[in-house]
Amino acid sequence: MKKIVKVSGELVDNAYWQFDGDTVTITYQTDRELLAILAVISRQHVVIEDVAAPDNDFQLPGYENLELSTQNMISDAIKNGIGFHVLDETEQIIKLIYGDHVEFIKAGNITRLDSALSHALMENKIVTKDILKTAGIQVPFGYEFHQIEDAFQHFDKLPAEFVVKPKSTNYGIGITIFKETTTQADYEQAVKIAFENDEAIIVETYAHGTEYRFYVQDDAVLAVLERFPANVIGDGVQTIKSLVALKNRDIRRGEHHRTPLEKIKIGEVESLTLSLQGFTESSIPDAGICVFLRENSNVSTGGDSIDRTDEVATFYKTIAVKVAQALDVTITGVDIIISDATRASDYYVIEANQNPMMQMHLFPAVGQSRRVTESLIKLLFPEIS
Ligand SMILES: Nc1ncnc2c1ncn2[C@@H]1O[C@H](COP(=O)(O)OP(=O)(O)O)[C@@H](O)[C@H]1O
Ligand SMILES: [Mg+2]
Repeated sequence: MKKIVKVSGELVDNAYWQFDGDTVTITYQTDRELLAILAVISRQHVVIEDVAAPDNDFQLPGYENLELSTQNMISDAIKNGIGFHVLDETEQIIKLIYGDHVEFIKAGNITRLDSALSHALMENKIVTKDILKTAGIQVPFGYEFHQIEDAFQHFDKLPAEFVVKPKSTNYGIGITIFKETTTQADYEQAVKIAFENDEAIIVETYAHGTEYRFYVQDDAVLAVLERFPANVIGDGVQTIKSLVALKNRDIRRGEHHRTPLEKIKIGEVESLTLSLQGFTESSIPDAGICVFLRENSNVSTGGDSIDRTDEVATFYKTIAVKVAQALDVTITGVDIIISDATRASDYYVIEANQNPMMQMHLFPAVGQSRRVTESLIKLLFPEIS
């Protein structure tokens, strides 16, 4: 089907549209595809007359039910004149077509370029640590346990500050971080929580420093984010609960990865984290005080992100690429805790993610957007660039 719309601005023709000075003729198959094409055009600094602008600059109208990374992948496919089909909305599997070149993408960045084996190696943090250590990359010192009793008996051998985590969960699930001397009972509790989520666990030294996520594609670091655990800043008037509600009103915060950031929840882990700092959700923090609701800095648990791609020293980018090479992967998200990211300093690689979140680089809470979706399209379709 065709639709002609009046526009002001400049547009380069592609398979979806033809520009002729003040109108654009759009070729589309379905109404939702038309909505998406209109949104993509309006994001090329082109004003479409008589058509309302999209509600926000991060979602793709017509495809909001997909994960944000898949929405943006489709958006960049349209921008580059690549055909697309959503094959499975639940599993986020799409097909991209350019001439007779076909590519499949699952969940934003799982492609034929990475093997199921590499993914399995990254999924397993015990195996990842072993491979990285052998490659001469620094990882936190630690132990692995397959039996709960063995873990219990190791308490005396642990460093003062340590982390207990399942060997292969994501999103900070089942992780307990001990930053002060703890008791055997608290340690056993953490071990139980980790074993509830997995059949094996890691107990490793707590790494001090600032946490960064390096997004690696094809032996290059495309984006670096500094990540902070979920937090609110006091104003001396409102409770933590209402500060959280206020922060969650930001349209960029949503649920289930349909938006750039996730809403902060006040659940069991958050209440515990608050109580360790002497707060409850009804406490009123002083003006300017930053209160953390989690220890782990995953964006999935309400964390914040700042783009630091241009600030982080090349030293660490080289390490992130070395991690990808050791695991033999094209795409990975490497978590590194660094003492001073502006120069070579102490660092620890925490893990490598096999399906790293893309939306936090596309839309960081603060700083420049890094279009990792379009970079992947250009890698998969070298003929378009
Ligand atoms: N050894 C460690 N030292 C300090 N913080 C850690 C350590 N291990 C994990 N963390 C914190 O917990 C978060 C989640 O741990 P991670 O191993 O990346 O698991 P997940 O797969 O759930 O993201 C990290 O992003 C970091 O904030
Ligand atoms: Mg992680």
